[in-house]
Order: sequence, then structure tokens, then C-alpha cells
Amino acid sequence: MVHLGSFLLLCSAVHGFAAASYIEYSTVAGYFLQDDNATNATTFDYTATNFGLINQSYPTDPANCAPLTQWQRFAMHVAALNAQAPRNVDYKLLFMGRHGEGWHNAAESFYGTPAWNCYWSLLDGNGTAMWSDAQLTENGISQALKANSFWLSRIHEQKIPTPETYYTSPLSRCLTTANLTFSGLPLPPKHPFIPTIKEKLREGISEHTCDRRSNKTYIHDEFPWYEIEQGFSEYDELWTGVTAETSSAQDLRSKQLLDDIFSSDRSTYISFTSHSGEIASILRVLGHRTFPLNTGAVIPVLVRAETVESCAPSSTVSDASTWTPSPHCTLPPVTSISGGANGGCVCTNGAAPVLTTLAPAPTQ
Ligand SMILES: *[C@@H]1O[C@H](CO)[C@@H](O)[C@H](O)[C@H]1NC(C)=O
Ligand SMILES: *[C@@H]1O[C@H](CO)[C@@H](O)[C@H](O)[C@H]1NC(C)=O
Ligand SMILES: *[C@@H]1O[C@H](CO)[C@@H](O)[C@H](O)[C@H]1NC(C)=O
Ligand SMILES: *[C@@H]1O[C@H](CO)[C@@H](O)[C@H](O)[C@H]1NC(C)=O
Ligand SMILES: *[C@@H]1O[C@H](CO)[C@@H](O)[C@H](O)[C@H]1NC(C)=O
Ligand SMILES: *[C@@H]1O[C@H](CO)[C@@H](O)[C@H](O)[C@H]1NC(C)=O
Repeated sequence: MVHLGSFLLLCSAVHGFAAASYIEYSTVAGYFLQDDNATNATTFDYTATNFGLINQSYPTDPANCAPLTQWQRFAMHVAALNAQAPRNVDYKLLFMGRHGEGWHNAAESFYGTPAWNCYWSLLDGNGTAMWSDAQLTENGISQALKANSFWLSRIHEQKIPTPETYYTSPLSRCLTTANLTFSGLPLPPKHPFIPTIKEKLREGISEHTCDRRSNKTYIHDEFPWYEIEQGFSEYDELWTGVTAETSSAQDLRSKQLLDDIFSSDRSTYISFTSHSGEIASILRVLGHRTFPLNTGAVIPVLVRAETVESCAPSSTVSDASTWTPSPHCTLPPVTSISGGANGGCVCTNGAAPVLTTLAPAPTQ
């Protein structure tokens, strides 16, 4: 089992021998509509609002800025923030995209969330649709192609700074979404679309089969030009089908993901292709307001990262031993109710919902 809490132990291990340091993240508000409490995430359309970049002037605007677009002036502003920042402070813009609709999303709508959570999500599919490591639906493909057209329009109309590096979750719906979103764009030859697959960008790991990833060989065969990070295991060692990652364990690995990228990647503009739950977790770590993304939506976040020369403040170590099982039914529920005890699961013939009867599925 991969130990998600290891960096805390490392820090205490070196304490007293060398100066340990940690990175403190914050969201710089005032540039994007999504940072503003008044923006309604449910109805927000990133394609109708220039990715949410607020129309305004910056103190760094050149005297005659008429020919420059908002994104060009924003890029100059971010360059100035970095140039003026102390050595231990970095500003980066993360474009975080949620995958387009997958078969698991369609099935959750089809069955309703309680019945989905209590029963259907634990199966690989229902005979007509498959949702273990779900693929995109037609609608999901359209959402990714819409993101592609929108990027193209931003490149032409706004001369937007395109990502210098790309990272994606290893789940199929993200591998495909990233490909459809960034293929065929006039990207600078210096920064081609060659994403790196990161285990820690995957969705919160529930018992649902849509959270179990495929093996490395299969991923490589499907997307042979993608990079796979060092240490990526052949089989999924995290998904058990029995217990689910808690949100504090997820936030800890999101922090580890950011630490990894912020300490190794000098790019200012970075793309993540990930999931609703994982992007929500990254937003918590960044101190961004809650901003749920619709399938296929993208949120830019200007991040300030400050390296602090001291051991990280200790927090509860949230390793895999803190993962919890969720109640479920072994036959389709007769009824299910939102909320309430047992996750709303009301099983056939009044059977009590069970916690851990599922054997971990053999990795394949
Ligand atoms: C936005 O809302 C949060 C939560 O309600 C609140 O804590 C925060 O102060 C608000 N921010 C602004 C700028 O109003
Ligand atoms: C956001 O929009 C949705 C859909 O129109 C609406 O139901 C919800 O009440 C709005 N939220 C807020 C905080 O205004
Ligand atoms: C900024 O202005 C342009 C046109 O002047 C408009 O199309 C765009 O939606 C505006 N952006 C925002 C975030 O208000
Ligand atoms: C299986 O689920 C899909 C939704 O993902 C639904 O469209 C289809 O009708 C379901 N099949 C059966 C046999 O219920
Ligand atoms: C990647 O996207 C391109 C452009 O949409 C498409 O032609 C190609 O088939 C995709 N490749 C895979 C493996 O999905
Ligand atoms: C990897 O996964 C694919 C697709 O599920 C499967 O066909 C293949 O046998 C697996 N390979 C290994 C080495 O387990």
C-alpha cells in the first residue's frame, strides 16, 4: 500500500540535521470571476467569459496598451509579479479542467445518486454501459471538443499564454479529455502537448469502479506519446473496492502533488486535467473558494507559493489506514433516500446495508 503520509515523517526525520522547508499556497484573488463570492458556479460558463478573466487595467500595463488583449496584459502582470517576488515566492497559473461526461456520470443521473452510491457504482457496468474506469459519452466528447475550440479562439483572439506543461490523471476519461482538448492547437513548438500522467491527480478513491484505474501497459498502449511519471506502478495499488479515501487523506495527497510540481516545474502556465472531487480538493489546499465544475469545465487559478524555511506544521497524518468503508446493498435497492443513515441505502427485503463484504477486485 502506498503510504500517503510519508512527507510528514520525512520532515521529522531530517529535523535537527538540515533545515526542512515546506510550501505554503494561496490563491491570489481579484483576477478571475471564479474567485468572487458573487459568481454562481452552477450557471457559470467559462467559454462565455474569457475563462473568467476580469476586464481591468493592471499597474503593469504599458502606456499605450490599446493593441494588447486582456490575456496579454495579464501575462505581463504575472511576469512582473514573479520578477518582483522574493526568491522563495512563485506565482503560477493553473488551468484545471474537469473531464467531459463519462458513463459513470450518465449512470448516476440515470439511477439517481443514492441508488448509484448504494449499488450500481460498485459494479463494472449494467450490461449496456460500462463505467469501470469510465470512457467519455458522446456528450463528454463534445464537451472536450468545445474546450478545444475555446482554446483555439483564445489563442487567435486573445493571444492567451498556453500551458507550458500538462499533467493529467491516469483515469481514461481524463486521458481522453486532455487529448481532445489540446490536440491540433497551434501551440508553441517549445511547449508541445505532451502531458505527464500523475497518480496523485486521480479522483478521490471511493469504492466505485469508476475510480479504479487501468494498468500502466494499457494506458501506455492507448496514449503512447504521453509521459508517465517515475514510480507509476503497473497495477492500481490504491483502489481496494472496500474502503474510500477520506477528504483529509485526499487533501494531503493533493498537497503532495502540488509540492512535487511546484518544486520541479519552472513553468508559469500549467494545465491539469482531473476530476470534480480532486479539483475541489486542490482548491481547498490552495485556499480558493468552493467552485464545483460542471463536466468539461475549466477553472484558472493564480497561485502564490511561498517556501517557508521551517518544518511543516504537523497535522493529522492521513494515510490509507484512515480510509473508511461506505454502506451499500448487495442487490439493487428497492428504494433509496437522500441523506439519512446508511448513506440513504434502503436494500431489498429490508436487508441491512453492508460495509465490507466486497472482496477487493483482482487487479487486471
Ligand atoms: C466569501 O465567502 C466566504 C464564505 O462564506 C467568506 O469567508 C469570505 O470572507 C468571503 N469573501 C469575500 C471577499 O467576501
Ligand atoms: C445559482 O444558480 C442556481 C441555478 O440557477 C440556483 O438554483 C442557485 O440558487 C444559485 N445560487 C446562488 C447562491 O445564488
Ligand atoms: C470583457 O470584455 C469583452 C468585450 O469587451 C467581453 O466579451 C468579455 O465577456 C468581458 N469579460 C468579462 C469577464 O466580463
Ligand atoms: C445502463 O446505464 C445507462 C446509463 O449510463 C442507461 O442509459 C442504460 O439504459 C442502462 N441499461 C440498462 C439495461 O438499464
Ligand atoms: C486524440 O485526439 C485526436 C484529435 O481529436 C484524435 O484524432 C485521436 O484519435 C485521439 N487519440 C486517442 C488515442 O484518443
Ligand atoms: C492490462 O489491462 C488490459 C485492459 O484492461 C488487459 O487487456 C491486459 O490484459 C492487462 N495487462 C496486464 C499485463 O495485466
